[in-house]
Amino acid sequence: MGLKQIDHGSKEYQQMVQLRNLILRQPLGLSFSKEELDREVNDILIAAFDEEVMLGCCILSRLDSMTMRLRQMAVNNNLQGKGIGASIMSFTENIAADKGYRKIMMHARDTAIGFYEKFGYKVVGNQFFEVNLPHYIMEKRL
Ligand SMILES: CC(C)(COP(=O)(O)OP(=O)(O)OC[C@H]1O[C@@H](n2cnc3c(N)ncnc32)[C@H](O)[C@@H]1OP(=O)(O)O)[C@@H](O)C(=O)NCCC(=O)NCCS
Repeated sequence: MGLKQIDHGSKEYQQMVQLRNLILRQPLGLSFSKEELDREVNDILIAAFDEEVMLGCCILSRLDSMTMRLRQMAVNNNLQGKGIGASIMSFTENIAADKGYRKIMMHARDTAIGFYEKFGYKVVGNQFFEVNLPHYIMEKRL
């Protein structure tokens, strides 16, 4: 497995949108708008590959000079539970730290809290709803 940053608008980005649709949006009857995807041009786009096949992905969006927001964390269905998400997390945290950021936060689905806790993220604040699912803000100092 290899991990790398990919470019917005590239063939790999199209693969990433497909994977995110499959894992994060279609099960909820939702999709991505063009505006939503256009806004990702300034984001850090990260994916795990086996040869040409994308196994998982996530996005880092800059919130301020200290903080990155992790978004769109997804591992393909039949590959979950095999350590791919963990590899993506550690690669992603290294990228944020190398760029001088001190904190990562995310809007975590309640079903994913246990996953993020494994890496030291803590829930802050109350539950809220996003894409019709219960979420919590989680964060960690790098
Ligand atoms: C959540 C997700 C990204 C985790 O990736 P993954 O490749 O399945 O996770 P890993 O196999 O690397 O798991 C790492 C550790 O976290 C644990 N873990 C994984 N998913 C978990 C979950 N949903 N809840 C609690 N623990 C979880 C694993 O058991 C493993 O623990 P271990 O180190 O003690 O063995 C992936 O399951 C996924 O895409 N889920 C659907 C989409 C989603 O919910 N995305 C997050 C939105 S906020």
